[in-house]
Amino acid sequence: MVLDGQSSQSIALAAQALQRGDLIGLPTETVYGLAADACNAQAVTKIFSTKGRPSDHPLIVHVTDIESAKRFASDIPDFAKRLINAFWPGPLTLILPRIRDTATAAAGGQNSVGIRSPSHPIAREILLAAQGLGVWGLAAPSANKFGRVSPTTAAHVREEFGEALLIVDGGACDVGIESAIVDCTRRQPVLLRPGVLTLEQLSLACGEKVLQQGGQLSPTTSAPKASGTLAAHYAPVAKLFLMNKQDIEEKLAQRKGGSPLAIWSRSALQVQSQASPEKKSSLHWQQMPSDPAQCAHALFAQLRAFDGLGVEQIWVEAPPPDNAWEGVHDRLRRAETAGR
Ligand code: TXA
Ligand code: MG
Repeated sequence: MVLDGQSSQSIALAAQALQRGDLIGLPTETVYGLAADACNAQAVTKIFSTKGRPSDHPLIVHVTDIESAKRFASDIPDFAKRLINAFWPGPLTLILPRIRDTATAAAGGQNSVGIRSPSHPIAREILLAAQGLGVWGLAAPSANKFGRVSPTTAAHVREEFGEALLIVDGGACDVGIESAIVDCTRRQPVLLRPGVLTLEQLSLACGEKVLQQGGQLSPTTSAPKASGTLAAHYAPVAKLFLMNKQDIEEKLAQRKGGSPLAIWSRSALQVQSQASPEKKSSLHWQQMPSDPAQCAHALFAQLRAFDGLGVEQIWVEAPPPDNAWEGVHDRLRRAETAGR
């Protein structure tokens, strides 16, 4: 059932469902989440089974602010506080040491906990209403079946889980890709998953260099058992290929049959105008936004729309090698790997 997020009755119903231990579809500024009371182990177990997600993949706990975060995190280092001051509420998750016996199921067996304070006004209203009923944090992964494309509208969530789930409609998500995740359990901050915030923005705000996972870790920093961030993820049904403009044009020129194909490119393609009518009718070209934030906003909805056309392949022009594009590039690389 989809509820209008603008109505206060919907907010109250959502908060009551969470208090009862039910799941809800929750809008955030990044993507929609499949939310439950983070401290209710049975409710959290339902998230894992509904998504088909292995129970050792930790979930992010969503809170109203740093005070609520302290109910889950045993320590917030100074550099993490600076990140919170700069970017909360917003699309940034921090991995922090976890208070023992708190949100254990949500943490998927880690001694740490991922925490984020979302900025979407409807997410915040639900968090506040739930807090009024004694629910201090919402465990919420993206509201899609494990490995699939994240949802950025209430309709996408309904496509994933059907009518039985209570979904609060908050419109299309502004950001469009998941939050950046910074591990704050080591001596130095480490970016585990890129989002729309760039390494430069994060480093500037926290007053020290944010390292990249797999990058320049010093031998004294011990890596946590982060099981998320899988190489193959975010997959459309069609096979996705990342290509440069020239490759796309060459492959298009050589293309023989009329098997349905989608292309998402920033550049205009030369070959299109020369294609035969048969080839043309099976080709779906869409303009990829030239701005990385706009591209992130459009990305998952575009992949779902291409799947809706029944195409067999999606050719995507690789984003420029620029940090501002890293969040989008990361999701596209994983989508490409997943199809192999
Ligand atoms: O924008 C977002 O972050 C969205 C919205 C709903 O808030 N949520 C989201 O959740 O993307 P999910 O479950 O799809 O991705 C969570 C990621 C996973 O890669 C997981 O491994 C990582 O966060 N994570 C969570 N807790 C962790 C922890 N304690 N240690 C290491 N990684 C953690
Ligand atoms: Mg996800």
